[in-house]
Amino acid sequence: MADLFSPFTLKGVTLRNRIVMSPMTMYRSVDGHANDFHVMHLGARAAGGFGLLFPEQIAITPDGRTTVHCGGLYDDSQIAGWKRTTDIVKSMGGVSAIQLGHTGRKGSAVAPWEGGHQIAADHPEGWECRGPSAVPYGADHPHPVHELTVAEIAEVHQAYAETAVRAVEAGYEWIEMHYAHGYLGASFFSPLANQRTDQYGGSLENRVRFHTEALDAVRSVIPERIPLTMRLGADDLHPAGATMDEAVAAISLMKEHGLDLADISAGFNTPDMDGTPLGEPSGFLARALRVKREAGLPVGVSWNLGVPANAERAVQAGLDLVFLGRPALANPHWPVWAARELGHPSPFDLVPEDYSWWLKNFRGHAPSIGWPEPAPAAEIDLDAAGTGVPHQQRSRVDA
Ligand SMILES: Cc1cc2nc3c(=O)[nH]c(=O)nc-3n(C[C@H](O)[C@H](O)[C@H](O)COP(=O)(O)O)c2cc1C
Repeated sequence: MADLFSPFTLKGVTLRNRIVMSPMTMYRSVDGHANDFHVMHLGARAAGGFGLLFPEQIAITPDGRTTVHCGGLYDDSQIAGWKRTTDIVKSMGGVSAIQLGHTGRKGSAVAPWEGGHQIAADHPEGWECRGPSAVPYGADHPHPVHELTVAEIAEVHQAYAETAVRAVEAGYEWIEMHYAHGYLGASFFSPLANQRTDQYGGSLENRVRFHTEALDAVRSVIPERIPLTMRLGADDLHPAGATMDEAVAAISLMKEHGLDLADISAGFNTPDMDGTPLGEPSGFLARALRVKREAGLPVGVSWNLGVPANAERAVQAGLDLVFLGRPALANPHWPVWAARELGHPSPFDLVPEDYSWWLKNFRGHAPSIGWPEPAPAAEIDLDAAGTGVPHQQRSRVDA
């Protein structure tokens, strides 16, 4: 049976373990470029033993960013900076993944610590947002949205393909489409945001057309060995929104268009979610396992799996990849730490020799190396629908 530290192969790529550094927007780019911060950020986690590493949602067009400080790969000049990050990750034994995204009606915003709200199109750091329909997200994202024409949708797909070509040149070995968290892909899938009456709206098949066309566009320009995966806002957690039944059907359709793995997350298509599983380790895990059973493809999931015993249990229940967001920020060496906690025979072999030799051979007071103690494992209910938890405040972690 696979465990957290078993290698995982998808298409022509083998990961050294099942632990993924989840995409996290860092608001550290200038004009979409990567810099020393990103080399440090990704290099440290690769040296810490993560198997697959994402930087953040990488914009396919300038208006596909959340803020002007977000990463992009919409111009050839941006390739060299991101290549520095894939080089360091590779040299530390990790695999670099990229999450291609367009923020749609949730763009033109400021960073979370500046309030996270949207700014108007005429603000020096703002722009007019685009979406499936002229429906603003609402709450602190109130500004008008331009409804994409069919010709403009084709341009977006072209931008996906051109960015994918740049991504391969920048050394990425794994491509994920961001169809979650209220951004453009998520909003085409959701009836809350997509009110079109043409071939991109209405029926499930129409609401997934944007996604299958984008998958086709990307798959046609990348080498066969590169996995093409997706993070889907599978459940809007709202009575009028997208449901898990629809997500399973949509993923089955996308599988026919080259999708190799699905990472299951929330829609975040409305500020009025009526209850969220964001606070429990089993919330999206149960949904991901359902997708694996019913759509028949490998799955990943994030949300609250940072306690090693929970992550291990999720893999033993059938989860293929464990995505870690905040735990990767808190502890760049999470995989090594987890390996020790889980009784792995040689946890320090997960880090480069420059570190591991000393950690294994230096004769000193062992506890003084300073590993943190783990939190107690929470009970995770693998059959949980994940929707029955008490209402929680809307998370700001919806990038
Ligand atoms: C600072 C920060 C930025 C994030 N940015 C993104 C992003 O760019 N793309 C994305 O799909 N999810 C993003 N997320 C969500 C994480 O990838 C992850 O799904 C979420 O934090 C739940 O996992 P966790 O409980 O391990 O933190 C972000 C989360 C954080 C904390």
